[in-house]
Amino acid sequence: MKEALQHPIFKIISGVADENSRECYVIGGFVRDIFLRRPSKDIDIVVVGSGIELAGKVAAQLGKKAKLTVFKNFGTAQLKYKDLEIEFVGARKESYLRNSRKPIVEDGTLEDDQNRRDFTINALALCLNNDRFGELVDPFNGMNDLENFVLRTPLDPDITFSDDPLRMMRGIRFSAQLRFFLESNTFDAIVRNRERIAIISKERIADELNKIMMSAKPSVGFTLLEKTGLLALIFPELLALKGAETKDGVGHKDNFYHTLAVLDGICAHTDNLWLRWSALLHDIGKPRTKRFDPRLGWTFHNHNFVGEKMIPEIFRKLKLPQNEKMKYVQKMVTLHMRPIVLSEDEVTDSAVRRLLFDAGDDIEDLMTLCEADITSKNPEKVKRYKSNFQLVRQKLKELEEKDRLRNFQPPVDGKEIMEIFDLPACATVGEIKTRIKDAILDGIIPNEYEAAREYMFQIAEELGIKKP
Ligand code: CTP
Repeated sequence: MKEALQHPIFKIISGVADENSRECYVIGGFVRDIFLRRPSKDIDIVVVGSGIELAGKVAAQLGKKAKLTVFKNFGTAQLKYKDLEIEFVGARKESYLRNSRKPIVEDGTLEDDQNRRDFTINALALCLNNDRFGELVDPFNGMNDLENFVLRTPLDPDITFSDDPLRMMRGIRFSAQLRFFLESNTFDAIVRNRERIAIISKERIADELNKIMMSAKPSVGFTLLEKTGLLALIFPELLALKGAETKDGVGHKDNFYHTLAVLDGICAHTDNLWLRWSALLHDIGKPRTKRFDPRLGWTFHNHNFVGEKMIPEIFRKLKLPQNEKMKYVQKMVTLHMRPIVLSEDEVTDSAVRRLLFDAGDDIEDLMTLCEADITSKNPEKVKRYKSNFQLVRQKLKELEEKDRLRNFQPPVDGKEIMEIFDLPACATVGEIKTRIKDAILDGIIPNEYEAAREYMFQIAEELGIKKP
């Protein structure tokens, strides 16, 4: 494996380790990713002895270009060198108390250290000492698992997951990210240990969820979260979408699987995490609005507005950001049906202008979401929607060029109306403003100052307001 360790940093660490008679290895994700051909800049080094001490000596050798940070409490040191982040740690043996992720740590051998790792593919180590440079140490046959795309814990999975329940989320994330399979005993242990997720901080869970969201096919992760029972514990609102009820012979689609199809669909078109979250949450209001009407069948009236209102609570609980990112997701969820409704009817200029006005700069993202939302199995239906969508896109382009409505500012503002008619701030000013805006959106007048001003006088006359 010498060729994988060609970066000069490895020879430098090797030399320092030999000079100090320390056994030293590169371990974990970096080694796994060498075999998976996923280039990585995060390097984990295990030293049999003190990681901090060796890191200090390597830093001294690298000189000014290296930045060393020591975490005494954790017994680790981080070295930033060029674009690399190198973490040094002493080999350790760990035992855990039941109610915490904080282990009791003792010095150990390389094998002790490999034992305490999450998956066999993450326990691979390459020796850095000169006489064994590049030698693979693989006591759990991780290479075999790597070749067979299998995720398996080095120890009894009940111990590995109970020690650190975050690993259950990591296992599912690796399944989605690397397209590996959880070995059945490992999967069953997640089911048995799922309640232990309660001791993991929401932030760490959110990190893993976001990594699942950024994988090429996030449905792999969410399906596993559902099957292991973790989803019920960490994200019950999403699980509530599951199930397809039938009444009087009328059924509705399973909104959980529909949502996952929309999410996978959008991932082919965007790397924007928050647009992906919008896809995941677009129908989140459906369970709360579901009704059966003997005439209409199943309805989900206003599920978009209900969904929008649920989002702040969901973001708060999942420790996702409560800022403009959340507002963007809310906006996408509220508006997600607008382009489709529009394309079902005749596509009028007025409706397209209103859509452009409400979506502003996010119009492209909204169209992407809406297109991903078409998951019908009926090819005729899909064809019709897609061609109507083309029409909506074309009209959007034409009207945007003509009317510049994307970030609409009324050509005549409230201040000017108040000055011209000597009015205080009152409902009448608001009414005049709204009617000018509506006239522009309905195409009665162009989006221009002169036309808007003239129209303002017309409205004022109708309302019996005189110019002083
Ligand atoms: N590890 C572990 N249990 C955890 C976290 C990490 O056993 N809960 C071990 C694994 O051996 C892992 C290594 O620490 O390979 C480094 O962890 P980290 O950098 O978080 O993950 P990577 O496996 O490198 O993967 P990624 O960078 O994609 O998170």
